[in-house]
Amino acid sequence: MTHGEHSWTADIVLEERPDLLQRIERYRKRYPSRDVEAYIERVKQDARLDKAKQYLLAQAHARARRIGSSCMTYIEQSLQQGRYAEEYLKGNAYPFERMLHYIENGSRIDLYCQDFREVDLPENSIDWIITDPPYPQKYLPLYRDLALFARRVLRPGGGLLAMVGQSYLPEIFQLMSVEGLKYNWTLCYLTPGGQSPQLWQRKVNTFWKPVLWFSKGENKRWIGDVVKSDVNDNDKTYHFWGQSVSGMTDLLQKVSYVGETILDPFMGGGATGAACLLHRRHFIGIEIEKGVFATAEERLRALQKAL
Ligand SMILES: C[S@@+](CC[C@H](N)C(=O)[O-])C[C@H]1O[C@@H](n2cnc3c(N)ncnc32)[C@H](O)[C@@H]1O
Repeated sequence: MTHGEHSWTADIVLEERPDLLQRIERYRKRYPSRDVEAYIERVKQDARLDKAKQYLLAQAHARARRIGSSCMTYIEQSLQQGRYAEEYLKGNAYPFERMLHYIENGSRIDLYCQDFREVDLPENSIDWIITDPPYPQKYLPLYRDLALFARRVLRPGGGLLAMVGQSYLPEIFQLMSVEGLKYNWTLCYLTPGGQSPQLWQRKVNTFWKPVLWFSKGENKRWIGDVVKSDVNDNDKTYHFWGQSVSGMTDLLQKVSYVGETILDPFMGGGATGAACLLHRRHFIGIEIEKGVFATAEERLRALQKAL
């Protein structure tokens, strides 16, 4: 297998790996009636994954050394999780390329105090839009504009995750159904703890909200569909409708990789941006209200400096 500038093979030659041969022999003795061939394939796959992890780690360190970057603790932890190695083994080098880009350039944040419909971002430039638009009925027309905006700025294979209230779901689905943006799934965003918004008209105390997932082109990522904030992490410090950084972090880490570009066109107090900075993604935030924008900007610049 060859990826871009690196040439690399995932092959495992058992004769060169006495440790694996011993493992297989132990299995054969312990379970004489079981299918050894299937076990050998499993052992080889584990070894391939391990080899890919070590290879990516070495490449990342080499790149960091070359430019004198000091961000490797987070990178090492991320590579240990195995998601990058799994994608690499499947022939998808993009997540690791984004990681190398982050090692070289660090996290960037670009903030716009504007109506998102007037921000001229380049086409096909965003990996994920992760956002929490306003829920009241009067804002419904924004959902169509959000879908059209996403269709333009997302890169092929990119995704839009929009947290939505339950009250107007049928209308929202209709508004967001635009050609070129495909509905993929609904994730459940849990906000566990004692506090819960009460919806008097519907007579519901709610502990979760839907996150609608739309894809531009073919989605290639596997994800679990339940996302959680920490217990009682109902953080309204930066915005009346603010989300918690713990919840946005869970969402962000489920779908995206280090160094990818995340856009929140309804930035509010900046919880998505804070999660991006903490987890080494590039962030683009747009907020229409000047006062709200100023709060988010101050928060994110301070966090960027602290990191
Ligand atoms: C639900 S709040 C987002 C809260 C955010 N998730 C947080 O954690 O603080 C939605 C935000 O979208 C902003 N907004 C509404 N219409 C907008 C538009 N057309 N362009 C950009 N921002 C807009 C509102 O001012 C509000 O701050």
